[in-house]
Amino acid sequence: MSTLRIRSAKPADLPAVEAIENRCFSASRRSSLRALKHSLHSPVQSVWVAVGRIDGQRQIAGVMILYHHRLSVRIFSLAVLPAFRGSGVGRRLVQRAVALSRKTGRTSVTLEADRRNKVLTAWYEQFGFETYRILKDYYSPGRHAVRMRLILPKGRSRGCSQLDHSE
Ligand SMILES: CC(C)(COP(=O)(O)OP(=O)(O)OC[C@H]1O[C@@H](n2cnc3c(N)ncnc32)[C@H](O)[C@@H]1OP(=O)(O)O)[C@@H](O)C(=O)NCCC(=O)NCCS
Repeated sequence: MSTLRIRSAKPADLPAVEAIENRCFSASRRSSLRALKHSLHSPVQSVWVAVGRIDGQRQIAGVMILYHHRLSVRIFSLAVLPAFRGSGVGRRLVQRAVALSRKTGRTSVTLEADRRNKVLTAWYEQFGFETYRILKDYYSPGRHAVRMRLILPKGRSRGCSQLDHSE
């Protein structure tokens, strides 16, 4: 999608972020409004939105929530509105997470995915993510997750741990 723009979410984006969360995740898996608000203000999390265009109107098409740990970045949540899927919005968000992790000197990017969703885990594998742990009953009894990890090559970084919300 050529007009796609990835930017750091602002507090005013909260209703759109909540709407995407509700549209893309089942009730048991979605974050509450309170949790989303917390994510927007937390010093150890960052929320990213992908803004696309549909019928000439700019709209938030996807959301990604990251947790910034000392050595790694965790993709806590990633969701794209159905109308925008399949055109690279999710890919651009994952690439942003990887680029940000590299830039801030992290050594890996991690995430959890439903073990049964082979399309999803295969999609992450395309970026170089590998399963390294099974998380039993992670979502609910009998519903396991895989923890996946992308190891980042050591390279030049700014050597700082501060979040960079620039575009
Ligand atoms: C996973 C997700 C973010 C991908 O977003 P996207 O913008 O469609 O991603 P891209 O356009 O970059 O890539 C499309 C590919 O995603 C893959 N994919 C991953 N999960 C998928 C899913 N649940 N349904 C359909 N395709 C999925 C397919 O391989 C698809 O390839 P195709 O276009 O050739 O069919 C989106 O499908 C989504 O929001 N799913 C629901 C929420 C979710 O499961 N999030 C991940 C939690 S870990």
